[in-house]
Amino acid sequence: MKPQSTMIVPSTLALLLSFQLIAAAADTHESFLQCLSLHSENSTSISKVIYTHYNSSYSSVLELTLQNLRFSTPATPKPLVIITPIHVSHIQAAIKCSQKYGMQIRVRSGGHDYEGLSFRTSYNAPFVIIDMINLSSISIDVENKTAWVQVGATLGQLYYRIAEKSPNLAFPAGSCPSVGTGGHISGGGWGILLRKYGLAADNIVDAHMIDVQGRFLDRKSMGEDLFWAIRGGGGASFGVIVAWKIKLVDVPSTVTVFTVRRPWDQIVTKLVHRWQHVAHKLPEDLFIMVFLRSLSSGTEGNRTMEAIFQSLFLGGVEKLLPLMQERFPELGLVKEDCNETSWIQSIMIFNGFESGESLDILLQRTNYSDRRAFKAKSDYVREPMPGIALEGIYERLSKVEAEAAQLFFVPYGGKMSEISESAIPFPHRAGNIYEIGHLVLWAEDGIDASQRHINWIRELYSYMTPYVSKNPRAAYINYRDLDIGTNSEGYTSYKEASVWGKKYFNHNFDRLVHVKTSVDPDNFFRNEQSIPPLSSWKKNRND
Ligand SMILES: Cc1cc2nc3c(=O)[nH]c(=O)nc-3n(C[C@H](O)[C@H](O)[C@H](O)COP(=O)(O)OP(=O)(O)OC[C@H]3O[C@@H](n4cnc5c(N)ncnc54)[C@H](O)[C@@H]3O)c2cc1C
Ligand SMILES: *[C@@H]1O[C@H](CO)[C@@H](O)[C@H](O)[C@H]1NC(C)=O
Ligand SMILES: *[C@@H]1O[C@H](CO)[C@@H](O)[C@H](O)[C@H]1NC(C)=O
Ligand SMILES: *[C@@H]1O[C@H](CO)[C@@H](O)[C@H](O)[C@H]1NC(C)=O
Ligand SMILES: *[C@@H]1O[C@H](CO)[C@@H](O)[C@H](O)[C@H]1NC(C)=O
Ligand SMILES: *[C@@H]1O[C@H](CO)[C@@H](O)[C@H](O)[C@H]1NC(C)=O
Ligand SMILES: *[C@@H]1O[C@H](CO)[C@@H](O)[C@H](O)[C@H]1NC(C)=O
Ligand SMILES: *[C@@H]1O[C@H](CO)[C@@H](O)[C@H](O)[C@H]1NC(C)=O
Repeated sequence: MKPQSTMIVPSTLALLLSFQLIAAAADTHESFLQCLSLHSENSTSISKVIYTHYNSSYSSVLELTLQNLRFSTPATPKPLVIITPIHVSHIQAAIKCSQKYGMQIRVRSGGHDYEGLSFRTSYNAPFVIIDMINLSSISIDVENKTAWVQVGATLGQLYYRIAEKSPNLAFPAGSCPSVGTGGHISGGGWGILLRKYGLAADNIVDAHMIDVQGRFLDRKSMGEDLFWAIRGGGGASFGVIVAWKIKLVDVPSTVTVFTVRRPWDQIVTKLVHRWQHVAHKLPEDLFIMVFLRSLSSGTEGNRTMEAIFQSLFLGGVEKLLPLMQERFPELGLVKEDCNETSWIQSIMIFNGFESGESLDILLQRTNYSDRRAFKAKSDYVREPMPGIALEGIYERLSKVEAEAAQLFFVPYGGKMSEISESAIPFPHRAGNIYEIGHLVLWAEDGIDASQRHINWIRELYSYMTPYVSKNPRAAYINYRDLDIGTNSEGYTSYKEASVWGKKYFNHNFDRLVHVKTSVDPDNFFRNEQSIPPLSSWKKNRND
């Protein structure tokens, strides 16, 4: 079905041929849709959750949670069908029928994948999106400090529901409210509580998923290997996760938040340099991250370069101030910089919501006005960078392509260092002093703008090489980056996948391959960065 193959055929024949192809495709399409209602226990309801190009709401459903506008162009491959299951049998039908009619599956929960892998493919194959948006119930068990969360629920919805029940319970996941619990937790998931409680994936006690044979599994029936794999190994390689049982964590009634912004100069370079020696060694109740960014202000394209120190302390300001005086006096923190508040309000503040804004905003899934095209990358730092490295970052953030770019440094240590590298697939534990997120956003349309900004971040990434982890240069799967390697469309060899796989998972990659081999030996659940089964490696011995 490659367009080139018809171009060499005389035109009338080509026309005829393409009609036949369209007719054949339409046929498969029709049979696929019939198959869905046949295989769903609830055939009356499945038609209400199927969207094809013929349904007027197809585009709006596709766009609804699509976060990176880089993948919202006419050139982005579109799914043949979107299914928004409201019943487990809808997922089972989608899996069975996709297998029967040779469709690939993309599973979407919150749609925040940096490379859009939950709703697009770079492969030349028809695909279906299973969009979990309507499976989003949350039930909180305050007495046992646990909750069941369906994957379509966002982090904001989860936090809202927890806070509704108790001001002293929380969950240690990301602070951005629109991120989906499905992708986030299956890739690890860090947030402002990570130094105290680890990652979201470190706090999962059970899960519900559908496997390649359409079976509904819980922790007991899936077994400990598969349960291990889906907590940080990325869900998309193993099946469709439906819900997580999470462990809620304790937070005090009063927490303190501060945001210290400084225009970036020589003094600030020294301050950031100092932060590298301090942040990962602080008591685990204190989290201080750093943003280095460049922002355009005004219509003249003026640039502001600044460093922002943003912090959550699990306690009151009268305890925080002496602690800061002792451990990080260089920052010059004063009481006026601090806000004492509740944990849920700290989430609001970290998101820049105005004080007095209703918590209801956490329930909203998307805010269209803040979506843009972006490209991001990640790094891990094991030794403090020299000051000169920070000056090079400053120089790069001053370039025209960096009009909306930032680097953020996330301090590790605390609980992150106590958890073993193999406890879950996420391997970046003791020895990592902080993680870097590199991010560039842009508003202009078109390939040119896209290429300029992508080139900018690639150059920055290359510049950072001497200062970050090596062999492998580690990366975080939730900051998905296809530049670090991809699976080819047909067979994926172990060797090919291990290039990106070791960066995300290091020594855990091999165990993920073993789990994949036992649960999905034919590699049905695959994408550009899915774990390959060993069988494909065996079949392809010449590599
Ligand atoms: C604005 C923004 C803020 C962010 N903030 C943070 C942060 O603070 N901390 C952090 O750790 N990360 C953060 N991230 C990254 C985020 O954790 C990842 O992008 C995460 O994978 C998103 O999950 P999702 O469900 O929204 O994404 P999706 O795009 O829906 O899914 C991501 C991947 O998981 C797969 N997947 C999704 N649902 C399922 C399922 N039910 N079963 C099987 N596979 C599934 C998808 O196929 C895809 O491969 C942020 C991202 C953005 C865009
Ligand atoms: C089928 O779906 C309808 C509508 O969503 C629902 O009311 C009904 O309970 C479902 N039936 C079964 C057997 O699940
Ligand atoms: C999409 O269109 C088909 C055919 O008209 C219809 O059966 C189906 O219910 C529509 N889907 C939704 C979600 O309305
Ligand atoms: C399912 O999700 C779509 C898209 O958000 C929405 O339009 C629709 O009303 C939802 N259906 C149900 C039954 O919740
Ligand atoms: C807490 O867990 C116990 C044991 O699993 C269970 O019997 C009890 O019902 C749970 N409490 C609530 C409020 O669900
Ligand atoms: C932007 O720069 C111009 C001159 O370069 C200056 O006159 C103007 O005040 C600046 N605007 C802001 C908002 O800083
Ligand atoms: C934080 O405190 C400052 C100063 O006390 C106050 O002006 C500001 O409104 C507070 N911010 C929030 C989000 O509560
Ligand atoms: C979206 O965000 C903008 C700017 O942050 C804000 O002004 C607006 O109220 C938000 N819209 C909704 C619907 O929340």
